[in-house]
Amino acid sequence: MIKENIEKALNNQINAEIYSAYLYLSMAAYFHSVNLPGFANWMRVQTQEELMHAMKFYDHINERGGRVYLSAIRRSSYRMEVAFRSF
Ligand SMILES: [Fe+2]
Repeated sequence: MIKENIEKALNNQINAEIYSAYLYLSMAAYFHSVNLPGFANWMRVQTQEELMHAMKFYDHINERGGRVYLSAIRRSSYRMEVAFRSF
């Protein structure tokens, strides 16, 4: 069995990994919108990697007899347009 504080920390990490995937996906969407498919593809690959990280924590919690709790993913406040203009 997994300790409650460890289970909570691992569940928080799942949320952080999925949030990272969400950020990368928003970047991919931006690059698609400005016709930069290569950049967009690279961001999509990063999205998949973050989701893979989340699933590793998911599996680990289950393997240790814990319970996965999925919480809301906060909205991305990252504005790619602003970052891109700074170059
Ligand atoms: Fe990650």
